[in-house]
Amino acid sequence: MVLAGMALFVNPGYSNVNDECVWNAVTKQCTPDAQLYLQPVAKLDPDQMLLHEVGKIQFNTIWTFAPRLDGVWGMGPFFLANACSGCHINNGRGITTQQLNKPVFQQLVRLSVRKPGTDETMPHPAYDSQLQVFTLEGGVVEPSTGEADVFIRWLPHTVKLADGTEVELRRPELKITNEKFGPIDDSVLKSVRNGPALFGLGYLEAVPEADILAIAAAQKALGFNGRPNYVADDASFKRKLGRFGWKANQPSISQQVAAAHLGDIGVTTSLYPDQDCTLIQKACYESVSKYAKPELNDQAWNAVNFFMRANAAPRARKHNDPQTERGEKLFADLQCAVCHVPSMKTGSYPALPAIENETFAAFTDLLLHDMGPDLADGRPDFKAGGNDWRTAPLWGVGLADRVNGGMFLLHDGRARNVEEAILWHGGEAKKSADSYKRLPAVDRQSLLSFVNSL
Ligand code: HEC
Ligand code: HEC
Repeated sequence: MVLAGMALFVNPGYSNVNDECVWNAVTKQCTPDAQLYLQPVAKLDPDQMLLHEVGKIQFNTIWTFAPRLDGVWGMGPFFLANACSGCHINNGRGITTQQLNKPVFQQLVRLSVRKPGTDETMPHPAYDSQLQVFTLEGGVVEPSTGEADVFIRWLPHTVKLADGTEVELRRPELKITNEKFGPIDDSVLKSVRNGPALFGLGYLEAVPEADILAIAAAQKALGFNGRPNYVADDASFKRKLGRFGWKANQPSISQQVAAAHLGDIGVTTSLYPDQDCTLIQKACYESVSKYAKPELNDQAWNAVNFFMRANAAPRARKHNDPQTERGEKLFADLQCAVCHVPSMKTGSYPALPAIENETFAAFTDLLLHDMGPDLADGRPDFKAGGNDWRTAPLWGVGLADRVNGGMFLLHDGRARNVEEAILWHGGEAKKSADSYKRLPAVDRQSLLSFVNSL
């Protein structure tokens, strides 16, 4: 484990010729932008290559609510999209909209309420823990039919750097209207989430828990307070280390994938055989979903899980570039590397032995940090408090623009580039953001160039 000052590490993904061309050693061509987040890890055998491909097809499958020839049906009754790729476009991030009148469905809204008389929270009794903006009522699929409509207005403000440079930031103002099952008022805890890019997840799943706890211990000595989340593992009914999601509220790829099918598409699995209808949602219970259980069979679920595990992270680019090297040093000097840990190592990983015992550079610690009031959602999730977020991995971040036509960084997609993301850092990371504001322009460019080379 290395907390800072590591030489630019080359991910065991696919190789590249230069910054423009991300070289694919298998096809012997530059990888098209839309494919940059869709490359399998090295050393897969032919059966695994096939399973990666089958999982990818399943991930892109358009679900329908009526039976069709290939047997893929079961979307709804409530849902947000008809495919995983509806939000994770090209396996990348969700794209935010500036259009005020357009209901939002690529970003999702998590809900909870306080348990009366306690500090604890629970899912909303009428809407559960995630709003679904579509339903199949009357066979019509359009906004204004689901649980409620969600609108986001982006409010701009300007931040001044030490040399007078002004940077415009924007934050989301959430509006929920047309609630079908009672008002969602100010007492309800709400959190806007954007979909992250989905690669390298197998590596993050394969890091031994002890290594992550060791990072937390090492951070304490530097005055940081990285903490693990411990969350419900619904297969074993035990608490496990959370690794996935913006608050690390999911313990495993398989559970995250099952939860996404249920919450985002309305598709049941053997892990979650029932739709998440609340007591008040009677038509939801009576929907056709109850006749086909599970709607996603185990074989198809496993294929998506494998696709998620075996998707490679892109390799860093711009090696031996003096500006990038200077930026890497600043990344350590500004203590970015304390949380965005440059190097971790996988341990034993029976789900995909091909990536066992490999050192990789994800630039995360998988720990929660207090990021201050400006990023806070005020909605606790297991051991994550209202100010806490899991350090977002930075690998592949510099390609987000090419994959998704925009960057949409941070948990709600508010940051349109790396500089905006840095300037939002508060709480434990406030010192880093303040130091960034004091850097001369040429150093700021170097730091951004380094992060964008990842
Ligand atoms: C409505 C948009 C939407 C759809 C559809 C969607 N996702 Fe997501 N996905 C998200 C959001 C938002 C998050 C972050 C959730 C959070 O942290 O609360 C996420 C997180 C994830 C993660 C965790 C990644 C990480 O780095 O922690 C995985 C894996 C994932 N989704 C897989 C899927 C799969 C598989 C499907 C299809 C069944 C799917 N998603 C469908 C929006 C979506
Ligand atoms: C105290 C820990 C900590 C430090 C120090 C820190 N970060 Fe972060 N970083 C985070 C967390 C947590 C997030 C996710 C916040 C969110 O989504 O609201 C994040 C998010 C980001 C993102 C957005 C990534 C994405 O996928 O959306 C970038 C870019 C980033 N950090 C760069 C930096 C840089 C550069 C520095 C140093 C100047 C730095 N960070 C210092 C914890 C830290």
